[in-house]
Amino acid sequence: MKILVAFYSRSGKTKKVAEAISEILKCDKEEIFDIKSREGIPGFLSAGTDANLRRLTAIKEIKNNPSLYDLVIIGTPIWSSNISTPIRTYLFLYKEKFKKIAFFCTRLGTDAEKVFADMKNLSQKTPLALLELTSREVARDQYMQKIKEFIKNLKEEIVK
Ligand SMILES: Cc1cc2nc3c(=O)[nH]c(=O)nc-3n(C[C@H](O)[C@H](O)[C@H](O)COP(=O)(O)O)c2cc1C
Repeated sequence: MKILVAFYSRSGKTKKVAEAISEILKCDKEEIFDIKSREGIPGFLSAGTDANLRRLTAIKEIKNNPSLYDLVIIGTPIWSSNISTPIRTYLFLYKEKFKKIAFFCTRLGTDAEKVFADMKNLSQKTPLALLELTSREVARDQYMQKIKEFIKNLKEEIVK
């Protein structure tokens, strides 16, 4: 089975999780880059506003065509209780190309339920598995157990 981990990360937490997942699954990664700067305080503020208003952005050209993968695992940080704008854009642009999908997110404390429901609506597909981690768990390297459980759930769903 061909698997892709597609993710956006502003400050490295979601990237760390994406790297751990792709290392365990020995699969390809696609980092999504926002053309709009999200750096510093102006970038933080624009990120919060854009996510809150559910805006789209311009993202850099992707390297891996999602339609060539059996499963795309999509990871986002939570911004203003919403999907990050670059991942909203990725889902919007490529929703028709996904076969099977799974989601993960990193966040400070907001419940991920609404974000995952929104990702499901946008992609028009039911995710095979979900994983949510706090940035604290990621910073302290306390996330491998949850990642392993996520991958176990994923494998169980794949063989169904
Ligand atoms: C603009 C902005 C808004 C955020 N809003 C929330 C939020 O509503 N709830 C939450 O739990 N975390 C929020 N966070 C925290 C991030 O989701 C969290 O730090 C995440 O792990 C960052 O991932 P990254 O390092 O991959 O960018 C926000 C972060 C940013 C930059």
